[in-house]
Amino acid sequence: MKSLSLRMVLVAFLAIGLVSAFSTFATAQDAAGTYKAKCAMCHGPDGKGGKMGTRDFASPEVKAETDAQLTEIISKGKGKMPAYGEKLKENEIKDLIGYVRSLAK
Ligand code: HEC
Repeated sequence: MKSLSLRMVLVAFLAIGLVSAFSTFATAQDAAGTYKAKCAMCHGPDGKGGKMGTRDFASPEVKAETDAQLTEIISKGKGKMPAYGEKLKENEIKDLIGYVRSLAK
């Protein structure tokens, strides 16, 4: 009996590990998909900018901006940048910032 419950616990841990590994992967995919659908037309598929006066995400100016500032710009908009606070969830914006930072490398 004791060894059976121990085995159950092990299986549960394995399952949790698999699920969380998969959801991390799914999140990264989602952010890339959202970026392509909603952001790439102005910021470029690689975040290099160019259209509508967008800056390269890899530029020192954008790199100097904090995640909080980027969250503010994405949710409230700025100049020609549309506000996405109503359309995207907080965690989606957070994932997008992660994606934007990954493009800046
Ligand atoms: C209609 C064109 C357009 C779309 C669509 C758009 N942006 Fe922007 N974005 C801009 C412009 C223009 C700026 C620069 C705003 C300024 O500094 O005046 C900007 C600024 C930004 C910044 C701040 C970086 C900087 O230059 O200071 C981030 C981060 C950003 N956008 C992310 C996104 C994300 C993520 C999406 C998709 C959800 C998106 N943008 C969609 C036009 C756009």
